[in-house]
Amino acid sequence: YDTKTPQYNTGDPSSFAYISARDRWPVIITQGIDDVHRSAGASKDEEVLNEGKWVVAELARLKYELQHDRELTPLPDDGESDVEGYNKELEALGNPKWHSVPWLFSECYLYRRVSSIFKQTQKCKSYDLFARQKMSTFQSSRPAVVELAARYKDIVTELETKHTLKGIKTQEELEEAEKILFFEMCEICLWGNATDLSLLTNLSYEDIQKLQGSEARKSSEKNIIVNDLGKAFAVLTNGQKSGKKERRVDIVLDNAGFELFVDLILAGYLLAAGLATTVVLHPKSIPWFVSDVLPQDFGSLISALADPQTFYSTLSDEDKLVGKTATPLSDSEVSSLKFLFEHWSGIHAEGQLVLRPNIFWTAGGSFWRLANTEPSLYEDLKESELVIFKGDLNYRKLTCDAAWSSTTPFAEAIGSLGPGSDVRVLALRTCKADVVVGLPEGADETLKDMEGGGGDSGARKWAWSGKWAVVQFSDGKA
Ligand code: F6P
Ligand code: MG
Repeated sequence: YDTKTPQYNTGDPSSFAYISARDRWPVIITQGIDDVHRSAGASKDEEVLNEGKWVVAELARLKYELQHDRELTPLPDDGESDVEGYNKELEALGNPKWHSVPWLFSECYLYRRVSSIFKQTQKCKSYDLFARQKMSTFQSSRPAVVELAARYKDIVTELETKHTLKGIKTQEELEEAEKILFFEMCEICLWGNATDLSLLTNLSYEDIQKLQGSEARKSSEKNIIVNDLGKAFAVLTNGQKSGKKERRVDIVLDNAGFELFVDLILAGYLLAAGLATTVVLHPKSIPWFVSDVLPQDFGSLISALADPQTFYSTLSDEDKLVGKTATPLSDSEVSSLKFLFEHWSGIHAEGQLVLRPNIFWTAGGSFWRLANTEPSLYEDLKESELVIFKGDLNYRKLTCDAAWSSTTPFAEAIGSLGPGSDVRVLALRTCKADVVVGLPEGADETLKDMEGGGGDSGARKWAWSGKWAVVQFSDGKA
């Protein structure tokens, strides 16, 4: 249940894997060390202080092993059921070293190894060394959050109270407007933490129509190399028209903060527009790839919205040091943000918005292994009308992080989740790694020829920066 196509490897100098292992990961561990140092240092509890020192030493050891190209050591038994799987894989790979090991597995192992350090403590078991970073990034996306909140409030209020949108007269107009909004919400979701505020529009039908012509939206749309959103929308509207009572959409989440915020905007929109009756969110269970969503990140986001004035007026120590001050939110901004809090906590309490963690999402292997290693999750996903996979890592896991030709069809590259799986897959991915499939003939070459695209070096540099995106759909039928 793994592909025979070779996977990207940290030993390949032309792959982003090479730079990741040598330059990026040591920096990430160092930032983690700083965070633990700071948190433990601020504690009055002697035990926490001592455990903090031990964690710092273990993190430093991991960094040393990585930088000196030592073997990846077996995970200690920290009481979790996934230790065996990780260690078996290490054995199967012949006890590899950091600088020459499949990229996907070694990067997952890195985060699992970090979490195992915390799991071995008494008082810091569930400590998230990246939480501080996640929340401060979310705080700094305030303008976009406030703008989106106002729009969301308008749209959801209209849809829920009048079952239509402002200025719309006919059913056809409503469907067209819902489609445009669906595209927009998904594209905002796709661009995640780099959302261009000019993507936003007002609510009237005319304006929604104009949106299609909007320069800003068009200019980021041209960076979506493949866009299957139309197919996904058709699935959801067909489901709605069929009269099926229970229609679920799943979102396999990526990052916390602003990206989670826009995921919730999409989730709330799907529910309010009747395109879904339940949305299931899949967070991670351990601190993962720095910014991925943990269940507590959902809680932190909701609490921030419950009292937005306090949230935005609480400055970080860094901000205070540079003399920053917080501008209070206006009454209408507070009201929109509180509306989000009420709507999201309401649909969560009613069971329409569900959080469902699973240890499978933090395993070391690709999603090709889903049916074999986590059959109950596989059966569960079959129940969904559409499973949306967010972000780069999920895409790497869907495609096994293998060096496919760029024209390999998406449905083929996702292996056992492709045709015959009965799982409808939609990947919303900004490209931050080498793997890319489903491109039209010649597209990869054209992109490589652009400035910084990689040229004849053999490296697919254009796909490393997050500037380009793919939105790809596979319908799961045999
Ligand atoms: O390529 C850089 C990288 O950090 C990869 O390690 C990882 O696949 C990805 O970006 C994480 O990004 P995302 O949050 O979109 O999954
Ligand atoms: Mg991520």
